[in-house]
Amino acid sequence: MVEASESLPWWKRGVIYQIYPRSFADSNGDGSGDLGGILAHLDYLNDGTPASLGMDAIWLSPIFASPAYDFGYDVSNYNAVDPLFGCLADLDELIRQAHQRGMRVILDLALNHTSHLHPWFEESRASRTSPKRDWYLWQDARPQGAPPNRWQSVFGGRAWQWDPATSQFYYHMFLPQQPDLNWRNPEVREEIEKVMRFWLERGVDGFRLDVVNAYFKDRQFRDNPFRWGLRAYDRQVHVYDADQPELLSVYAGMRKLVDGYGDRMVVGEPLFGSPEKLRRYCGEGRLHLAFNFDLISCGWNPLAFQRAILACEQALGPEGWPCYALGNHDVARLVSRYPGRYALERAKVAAALLLTLRGTPFLYQGEEIGMKNGPVPRGKILDPAGKRYWPLYPGRDPMRTPLPWSDGPGAGFTSGDPWLPINPEFRSLNVAREMEDPHSVLSFYRRLIWFRRSSKALNSGSFRSLIKNPSSGLAYLRESEEETVLVALNFYRHPTQLVLDEDLPTSQWEWRLGTHPGCSGQRVGKSLRLLPHEVCILQSAR
Ligand code: NOJ
Repeated sequence: MVEASESLPWWKRGVIYQIYPRSFADSNGDGSGDLGGILAHLDYLNDGTPASLGMDAIWLSPIFASPAYDFGYDVSNYNAVDPLFGCLADLDELIRQAHQRGMRVILDLALNHTSHLHPWFEESRASRTSPKRDWYLWQDARPQGAPPNRWQSVFGGRAWQWDPATSQFYYHMFLPQQPDLNWRNPEVREEIEKVMRFWLERGVDGFRLDVVNAYFKDRQFRDNPFRWGLRAYDRQVHVYDADQPELLSVYAGMRKLVDGYGDRMVVGEPLFGSPEKLRRYCGEGRLHLAFNFDLISCGWNPLAFQRAILACEQALGPEGWPCYALGNHDVARLVSRYPGRYALERAKVAAALLLTLRGTPFLYQGEEIGMKNGPVPRGKILDPAGKRYWPLYPGRDPMRTPLPWSDGPGAGFTSGDPWLPINPEFRSLNVAREMEDPHSVLSFYRRLIWFRRSSKALNSGSFRSLIKNPSSGLAYLRESEEETVLVALNFYRHPTQLVLDEDLPTSQWEWRLGTHPGCSGQRVGKSLRLLPHEVCILQSAR
């Protein structure tokens, strides 16, 4: 297989697969996924041939020691692997074997906050004169015992927790068990630097940085302006509890540190990301990448997707580098966002979109087989957000149910009692079955990814839409010096004729990949005919 664009850094060239370790594969029968389970399935992710998914990197959601109030996003020791997942030696082995297969390994660092059981916080809360008091955000009550301001927690309720032992409030953007660090304290920043170095020296290839733009809060703790919204948290414009100006100097420091180790990368998860913020936070001397989640909130219509893509292209410019995802462990699965009889057809259209846009695509485990949100009965809800808001919002457990590997016992995920219910559809929808079926969502993903790997235009070419106001589908070009790739997507269940805003040459195209092999390709000109939910990818040399 010829690999295109070897000159690009790996994090621009590749597709990155998000593993939610608890739900990926269980190797010891305790019902929770672990590092051994990941190790056992590395060949699925990349064995060097198109029989595998062809991933360039894996991102592991947090595997550090944690009391798991927020399932690992509350860390009690950044330098230790939680025993649920294994030990440091297991991680070393995973990194070694992933590297052997040409895959990088990215760890997920939640540095905005720690667990309340982290020794730093335990020391901080011990007394007002503790040397670590200032490592967190402590404030006096206002008159009548009111909290310092009206800031709310993302997970609901006010963001200030009263600590009777020392008669002050501490701030927590998420759960009370996740106190926020004070990033203005230089000792905190030194410790965080040590954590990053610890992992970089062990060979990890980079980090996904949780809520990367929330590290600093307004020095004066001013109240946020009001706006209309459903929950108290949504009724604030978050100008004072995120996106503070000090961030840029932190990013510059991190970039220098990470680049000092060579070919590594940091990708930020922005809270309330916008294309404009991505431009501000990424680039030379800043983060390598930051997620653009705008595609996730698009309704199923091509215009919405095109607007989101163009907004990003315009904000970043040709030098900037987009980074897209269609799912992750926090949002409803794609097939559940666009449900119905044609959900799997839509999953293929969406896959083609994700994998042919300019930028780095991230793929959340299970999306490649078209998994649905799993039903989680009320009594089994574990996610704190689900416990608080059920039945209005069932929380994030449904998108975290175990990956079904087969139709065998425990769906091939576990020999024990799974930590979250296995989606009952596993008998018909599982990795093994989709591997064998050439028409499955998984087979389509594999073909797309391996084609992407071989195409210079898809790796690094420019993006140009061919339809100003798309109504039934999208058509766009990816152009590099060597070749042009034309992508055409029909979003709907009727055949369509996409009318292009420019005349393309009719003859030079070769059909490369799609949902309906062989039946497209000679139809370019002023318009393009597509079958229901057809994906058609054409290529021409320049
Ligand atoms: C974003 C993570 O993706 C989410 O899972 C977590 O609950 C919050 N940050 C808090 O760390």
